[in-house]
Amino acid sequence: MLQIINTKAIEDKTVLVRVDYNVPLVRKNSNWKVADDNRIQASLESLKFLQKNHAKVILISHLGRPKGKENKDLSLEPVAKHLEKLLDSEVTFIPNHNFDVIKDKVDQTKAVSVTLLENLRFAPGEEDNDKTFAKQLASLAEVYINEAFSTAHRAHASVVGIPAHLPSYAGFAFAKEVEMLGKLMDDPKRPFVMIVGGSKISDKVDAVRNLAKVADAILVGGGTANNFLKAEGIAIQKSLVEDKSSDKKKRTINYVEVAEEMIEETRNSKMILDD
Ligand code: 3PG
Repeated sequence: MLQIINTKAIEDKTVLVRVDYNVPLVRKNSNWKVADDNRIQASLESLKFLQKNHAKVILISHLGRPKGKENKDLSLEPVAKHLEKLLDSEVTFIPNHNFDVIKDKVDQTKAVSVTLLENLRFAPGEEDNDKTFAKQLASLAEVYINEAFSTAHRAHASVVGIPAHLPSYAGFAFAKEVEMLGKLMDDPKRPFVMIVGGSKISDKVDAVRNLAKVADAILVGGGTANNFLKAEGIAIQKSLVEDKSSDKKKRTINYVEVAEEMIEETRNSKMILDD
């Protein structure tokens, strides 16, 4: 059962909050600015609750896919500045990803404060779910909160590694997403039409397969659709397709074949997948 953030769990504590601040940025006069802050807004209820309860908040997130290397264009610094305005209180940004430096700087922050660490994916340990990396991050705090539902499918250190070391809770927005999904699975309002987009089918195949069991229709767009089009013998020229891609366990999978299976599965359950 999902444990949700509550006063007793976090009051006066140091709390590590995994947020999903993987937000679009736009360059303005050689500075990066947040172009869409929906995901940041979604975390505010939990953050304000933590502030109200005198927590020392350490925010962790990824931004883009820097593949374990530092990339200035994917720094979370502009996000820290944006968050500062939304919270109307100081947000300390730690631009480093060397653990000793982070530890030092976090120790120097006030007992009630908000700090955002640099993009976790600048360190290879994040995506590799490196045990030492997870343990180091966990050692910064007393409690872990996941407020990053949109990243919950990743077996990365900040998602699955840290909770092994700390009492862990879902943030308010995370809990709402789980509740909504539960309602969709158990008793959806009909007609229930699922819209699937994005560039990669590999990222969402499990979720789509599950929801397909209850949806009345599925509309597939973006790069994901190419796998279905190819599976139906439609020429997609040089468009993005995942006919040789890695799954979560790093096995090579032909997702055109997976799309073909899904078309069959949905046909059998009286759904028509139209292109
Ligand atoms: C997203 O935008 O879908 C999430 O932030 C996860 O990002 P990722 O697909 O790079 O893991």
